[in-house]
Amino acid sequence: MIYEEHLRAAESAAWSIDSIRWSAIDRGAARDEPEILASLRDAAMIEGYLPTFGPRLMLLLWDDVDATAILSLELYEGLKHYTALRRYLDIVGDDASRLSERSLVAAREKTGGITYQRDEIITYLTHFMCSELFAAHFFRRLAEQTREPVLAELLGYMSRDELRHSAGAGALLKKRVAANAAVANEIISAAENFRHYGSDVVDIPLAEENDFEAIMAMNRKIRQLCGLAPTEHLEEEFSNG
Ligand SMILES: [Fe+2]
Ligand SMILES: [Fe+2]
Repeated sequence: MIYEEHLRAAESAAWSIDSIRWSAIDRGAARDEPEILASLRDAAMIEGYLPTFGPRLMLLLWDDVDATAILSLELYEGLKHYTALRRYLDIVGDDASRLSERSLVAAREKTGGITYQRDEIITYLTHFMCSELFAAHFFRRLAEQTREPVLAELLGYMSRDELRHSAGAGALLKKRVAANAAVANEIISAAENFRHYGSDVVDIPLAEENDFEAIMAMNRKIRQLCGLAPTEHLEEEFSNG
């Protein structure tokens, strides 16, 4: 089973909420960075959306045990990310940046009407894989920007987790390409129309904005899976007129 390798990787990379040095947080430094706090709030909102987003995807993938296992890891580690981000904001944030249960529930409520179709599974999986990759780059960039050391450390752990999540989704897609080569075209067109699932709950999907490095990483990932990257595909279509 593909998922066992990912379960093993998750267990050996695991960090615990209690290992974060909460009492060492420099609250002054953190409050000097309101934009970063706002980004953390949006990120927490996306992590807090996983318990309704994940099952929607999982129900469509019920007959793919690897997929349900990899999504279970996403749910568990997403819960860790949500908990850590919310705690961080509780310790340093002002009222505007804290995340209340009520605002999370209101955000989830907005997504109540979203339904997924089984024949679009490749699109959802591709968007999931790319969203996780963007999240990894987003957290890494925030870790480089912040002057608050506890946050930098926390974001380092989370960024590495997201890379693993993206690799897990990539393995699920690879299995499907191996079973049916035509799936590669579906992956490429899904990547061309990439939409971060976090934009279901957050108005501006921060992780997407002009993230050149993440776009390059996404291209590499798609090339590994399909032998062609979305940008190359677009260039080809252009030169073929
Ligand atoms: Fe996460
Ligand atoms: Fe994730």
